[in-house]
Amino acid sequence: HGRRLSHSAAAPARPSFGIAFDIDGVILRGRNPIGGSPQAIRRLYSDDGTPKIPFLFLTNGGGVPEYKRALELSEILGVDISPAQVVHGHSPYRELVKRFEDDLIVAVGKGEPAAVMVEYGFRKVLSIDDYSSYFTDIDPLAPFKKWKVGQSNCKTLMSEKVHPAYDVYAERVKGVFVVSDPVDWGRDLQVLCDILSTGGLPGNGKGGQPPLYFAADDLEYQAAFPSERLGMGAFRIALESIFNQVSDLPLKYTSYGKPNPFVFKKAANILEKLAMDIYPNSQPTTDVKDHQFSTIYMIGDNPKVDIYGVSKAGPPWSSVLTRTGVFRGKDNDPNFPADLVVDTVEDAINCILEKEC
Ligand code: G3P
Ligand code: MG
Repeated sequence: HGRRLSHSAAAPARPSFGIAFDIDGVILRGRNPIGGSPQAIRRLYSDDGTPKIPFLFLTNGGGVPEYKRALELSEILGVDISPAQVVHGHSPYRELVKRFEDDLIVAVGKGEPAAVMVEYGFRKVLSIDDYSSYFTDIDPLAPFKKWKVGQSNCKTLMSEKVHPAYDVYAERVKGVFVVSDPVDWGRDLQVLCDILSTGGLPGNGKGGQPPLYFAADDLEYQAAFPSERLGMGAFRIALESIFNQVSDLPLKYTSYGKPNPFVFKKAANILEKLAMDIYPNSQPTTDVKDHQFSTIYMIGDNPKVDIYGVSKAGPPWSSVLTRTGVFRGKDNDPNFPADLVVDTVEDAINCILEKEC
């Protein structure tokens, strides 16, 4: 990343603004770039490839470690994205490592949820696939599932034959982390109800509900299909409704990701550091505060998540709503109006650069 961090000899004063991009429905649909996103991102670099404008991706998606997502985005967009420029819904989990020191935790969701948690520093992590595989008959519908098991399941079955990594029959699950969108909703709802209603010992345990975290709470999001898909928020509603029927006490949980102001604060701090990397000689400061930009633009497609999040975060955040994802309206969103509404992310960048440069 030497080239990325160097600044050109004729570097002007550092820009007084930064940009946070939503991914699904703004930059990509599925794995395909949309709204002129590669061109839009390239405008944030000088002709020689050095970055000009501090920017990052602030997405409620995830399921892989940030360094992997950075590589994937670099490949799709044709620029050099660093892991620091990726903030996933689950990125705040990193700050909970101390709390779960030597505790067994379960990680849920598509991709590599356990690898994400291990990368953050958690030491005793099982994916819900691995965890479930230790309990015979925990999912009575398993024999009826016709799909081929993925790679991680194959590994699980193989390692299981040797011996379980942890004594899951005696050791309580002390925390559950929904990292990305759950894959096998039926099995996951069953096993999470088991863990959460037994103090973390499915089958015969008793005890209070272990802490439960969701990386995001999006009811719907824009994927490759023409209309929105059910997201982690929909899964949370399903789990909560069922748990509250089968248990005496209501489900307790914490959701990170947008619109939680916490992630906007985190993103602002990262943008500040990126600005110092790109322009090391201007405004040297050791004390990073999130008010050093006059404006930080959030370009998003989901009024309830991206635009509401900006309004909760307050200045210097400013919202730009595109029509390439969840929002398709002609005018502004009536409930969560954005500061600016445009068709695509390319239009957003044109407007921002015209105003700021
Ligand atoms: O599963 C991803 C979805 O919840 C939202 O992603 O990039 O639109 O915040 P994004
Ligand atoms: Mg989105």
